[in-house]
Amino acid sequence: MVPHDRRERPEDEAEGPCGGHRQHASHPHQQPLRRHRLRDSGKGRVSEPGRQREGPRGSKDHRGVTEGSAGSTAISLATVAPAYGCRCHVVIPDDAAVEKSQIIEALGAIVERVRPVSITHRDHFVNIARRRALEANIASTQIESNDRQTNGSAYVKTKMLHTKQTNGSAHANTELSSTGKYCPISDSKGGFFADQFENLANYRAHYEWTGPEIWEQTKGTIHAFVAAAGTGGTIAGVSRYLKEKNRNVQCFLMDPPGSGLFNKVTRGVMYTKEEAEGKRLKNPFDTITEGIGINRVTRNFMMAELDGAYRGTDREAVEMSRFLLRKDGLFLGSSSAMNCVGAARVAQDLGPGHTIVTILCDSGMRHLSKFFNDEYLANHGLTPTATGLEFLDQ
Ligand SMILES: Cc1ncc(COP(=O)(O)O)c(C=O)c1O
Repeated sequence: MVPHDRRERPEDEAEGPCGGHRQHASHPHQQPLRRHRLRDSGKGRVSEPGRQREGPRGSKDHRGVTEGSAGSTAISLATVAPAYGCRCHVVIPDDAAVEKSQIIEALGAIVERVRPVSITHRDHFVNIARRRALEANIASTQIESNDRQTNGSAYVKTKMLHTKQTNGSAHANTELSSTGKYCPISDSKGGFFADQFENLANYRAHYEWTGPEIWEQTKGTIHAFVAAAGTGGTIAGVSRYLKEKNRNVQCFLMDPPGSGLFNKVTRGVMYTKEEAEGKRLKNPFDTITEGIGINRVTRNFMMAELDGAYRGTDREAVEMSRFLLRKDGLFLGSSSAMNCVGAARVAQDLGPGHTIVTILCDSGMRHLSKFFNDEYLANHGLTPTATGLEFLDQ
């Protein structure tokens, strides 16, 4: 799925931003200049409802699929859901670029934009998405029960199911669903929570597809892979696969502001003493990048095999995006730009003669209201000023 372009592109290499290195970038969204195109996106594959852990297999049954997403996974899910006869309900943090919600709605899915809160809060977007699936399951059981009673047949143990489900980590909020406002899939035959953060189908898609594609397209000459993590699925699947092919391929995390993964990889703990809960000066989500950075270790991230980590700033991501636009005609989203900052850092450290790969996750088209909005950047002190790559030296 995600039929951006399934054609294989010829391998094409050239000097990257840090002269003397071959840098490869895989991405499904752009016309290639010096880069490889993935045959399909991992997100796309993960988003196929039939591939999901305990997903609604053979699901021409009008089930609903729910997901908590910063946007990309939701767009993939919303794209494929109708083909599976599924309805799609997405919960998205309201600091994500609004055009992503618009795309998801245009694809026919329901979008709930919610305030960003900690994952420990019941109203974190992921917890709400899980709850919506539970609500749909309860509603569908109730509908079934009512139907059977109307037909004079036996009684269904609705109450038992309700008790079992509300004992889970996310509690079904029947109050909300009874309004019908937030449970638009309640008339479906139940709900399935795709759970991209914890569902290992995510990691597996990258292990089975993205990793091999990178290996094939670089003809096994790759020296290093670097990427930021959102769910961790990409970096985990790719790093595992590459390490199995060649232990000497080095794999690095690129971490954006506000994320705890850099510390986890380099020091084994999510937070330094200075960053302990309550001591942070900034909101942990206070970054212009979207879809990357996290303050918990997901099941997917746990599968990663990493040699180290880098940290990138919002300014570097903005400057890199403008540099690549000017120099290579690449119109990239914020996480892709951050990944390229990571590739440049690895190139600086490894020196000339190395093949370094990163991922171009999405295009700038999904980032017009923030990352490519001059006013927004000026308000956040991020107006780009660099003429070359001098920002990497700061
Ligand atoms: C735009 C974008 N870039 C990067 C990522 C990170 O990929 P992963 O979730 O595989 O770590 C995501 C995750 O959803 C994303 O939406």
